[in-house]
Amino acid sequence: GKVRASTHIISTISDDRGEEPCYAGVPMSSIIEQGYGVGDVISLLWFKRSLPRYCTHFIEICIMLCADHGPCVSGAHNTIVTARAGKDLVSSLVSGLLTIGPRFGGAIDDAARYFKDAYDRGLTPYEFVEGMKKKGIRVPGIGHRIKRGDNRDKRVELLQRFARTHFPSVKYMEYAVQVETYTLSKANNLVLNVDGAIGSLFLDLLAGSGMFSKQEIDEIVEIGYLNGLFVLARSIGLIGHTFDQKRLKQPLYRHPWEDVLYTK
Ligand code: ACO
Ligand code: LMR
Repeated sequence: GKVRASTHIISTISDDRGEEPCYAGVPMSSIIEQGYGVGDVISLLWFKRSLPRYCTHFIEICIMLCADHGPCVSGAHNTIVTARAGKDLVSSLVSGLLTIGPRFGGAIDDAARYFKDAYDRGLTPYEFVEGMKKKGIRVPGIGHRIKRGDNRDKRVELLQRFARTHFPSVKYMEYAVQVETYTLSKANNLVLNVDGAIGSLFLDLLAGSGMFSKQEIDEIVEIGYLNGLFVLARSIGLIGHTFDQKRLKQPLYRHPWEDVLYTK
């Protein structure tokens, strides 16, 4: 009989052995000829299926509006300092990417986890927020360094407007908005931020598209796919900041003494 050698790697998303590469079984020629966009490619390689156009459009909007947020944020700052230290593109990029985490850009998965759990358990925004406070956990997806109740994040508004028009249901987003209404009643900086908007809206996308079983949604949320959107998007801006610094021939960065509180 046939003896099958055991393999060292299992892979299910792409295959380069034939005449042309395939993403989740879809040949590259179809991807190009049928005018697929980057949202479709993300659907195939991350979710292993073709998603409806409104979903891939939403993914593309997330990528476009998270691509950059100026030179002062953690990621861009690290990238700029690294590029100015004479390091190469990849080093400058990863230096910026390494700042993405629970406070900056990497709160999308936790926002999805906590909003989903609270909504599915029927917690009121008050019970949810106060419960988090008791546990000493900041609500992921809420709060911003510069955005305020009277100076909202335009990106959040744009995402919400798109979803209200195109998604069959926005129940998780509406819940996040109710949470925001409650947190804003406590402090003016506790707005729904872009991580919270994407986290809650992606729950609506997963649940409303009819393309994922309940078990698959739980797995996506548990593994944590969604920070990948910010990582991917912000790489575009971080690469831009690297080129910008090189183009401007900026010297080694040294932080000014005056801006440090030296104390014992
Ligand atoms: N939930 C509950 N209370 C909060 C939250 C929150 N998410 N954020 C701030 N507060 C309250 C707390 O009382 C906090 O006091 P503490 O330090 O004793 O906990 C107080 O507000 C401090 O507020 P700020 O000084 O304005 O907050 P800071 O500037 O330090 O933090 C940050 C901003 C990191 C975004 C914060 O709001 C936070 O941790 N949010 C959750 C994580 C998150 O969503 N990050 C993504 C931001 S968007 C992006 O990066 C693309
Ligand atoms: C970002 O997208 O980088 C921001 O929302 C963070 C910030 O402080 O502006």
